[in-house]
Amino acid sequence: MRKIFFIILIVITTLNFGQEKSEIIFGPYIQQITSKSATICWSTLESEPSITYPDGNVKPIREYKQHSIHLGRLRPGTKYSYDILNNGSVEGKGVLKTFPDKIEPFKFVVLGDTRSRHDIHKKIVSRIIEKDPLFVINTGDMVGNGRDINDWEHFFKINKELMRNIPYYPVLGNHEKDSPYYYDFFDLPNNERYYYFTVGDALFVILDSEGEEISKPSYISDENSDKFWEDSFSEYFTTQKKWLTKVLELHKEVGYIFVFQHQPLYSIKKSRVKDTDKRRKFWGDFFERYNVQVFMNGHDHHYHHAFKNGVHYITTAGGGAGLYETDAPQPETVKYNKIEHFVLVNINNNNAVLDVIDINGNEIDKITIDRRK
Ligand SMILES: [Fe+2]
Repeated sequence: MRKIFFIILIVITTLNFGQEKSEIIFGPYIQQITSKSATICWSTLESEPSITYPDGNVKPIREYKQHSIHLGRLRPGTKYSYDILNNGSVEGKGVLKTFPDKIEPFKFVVLGDTRSRHDIHKKIVSRIIEKDPLFVINTGDMVGNGRDINDWEHFFKINKELMRNIPYYPVLGNHEKDSPYYYDFFDLPNNERYYYFTVGDALFVILDSEGEEISKPSYISDENSDKFWEDSFSEYFTTQKKWLTKVLELHKEVGYIFVFQHQPLYSIKKSRVKDTDKRRKFWGDFFERYNVQVFMNGHDHHYHHAFKNGVHYITTAGGGAGLYETDAPQPETVKYNKIEHFVLVNINNNNAVLDVIDINGNEIDKITIDRRK
């Protein structure tokens, strides 16, 4: 009898252990929506190894297992409810809406630099949920350190209610540090670094302004430093530019083109103006030539709208990170505001309206762009 009890006890303990470890920690969240397909992702806790630091501090490093299901043969512009647990709890439930396959009005939201001040990030996320956008784009620096799992834990906790119903498209920022976690957690088109998707006749291109995470070796002298960085990245960025050329040639007839990357082409933060000169030199008149209407970026923690030769350059990086000075307005500057905010974009049949909304719900700017000819 004692032996049987002991065996039962082991079975129960094993079952409990199994349940605990397969608990959903991140998600469920929606990725890669099209008019016919969708991907639902979630993560479970796998193990909890620890690391001991030189000062004797012991820190647990949680390991997550990534899960995803790919749904095909869905109907365009249709809502589907899902339940990844099927156990009656709300934990595994969500609703996804496929993109429309025809040209019709829709709205999406852009925010950026959500990497710190989690209370601010939380408030911004609540305001975005109220707007019920078709999808969300984050212009990068989603977390403080992309290689620290604790930061992703904060990110997914804050975005839990948003991401279970609204697809979330990320842009790689310098703080993501080209981390394997980024590629594990997000399920994205192309090489996941730069990619595009379409909704109706609107094209959304996500670029990578960061490249591979490289450290400069200590034997590189100061005088060779610029050349080291240039040589390290020139092939990568030239390849990306060629890819973008092909994408824009293929999609010549679209009504709207939105391009996103983390680093700005126009900065109003004095210490960063020089860097933007280099970036503009690299791109030249590329975006004007291809009639890109809106170029959106993060990195400078405030709102800035610049305009040149038909292209709107918008910095939206007010999602949480501490705000930056606006101490160097440029000749192309139209408006700026040092405030936490996000951008709600309404795509209409003849125009698109960008509403810049601050953390208090006030509209701080409104930009209207016409459909491309
Ligand atoms: Fe940044």
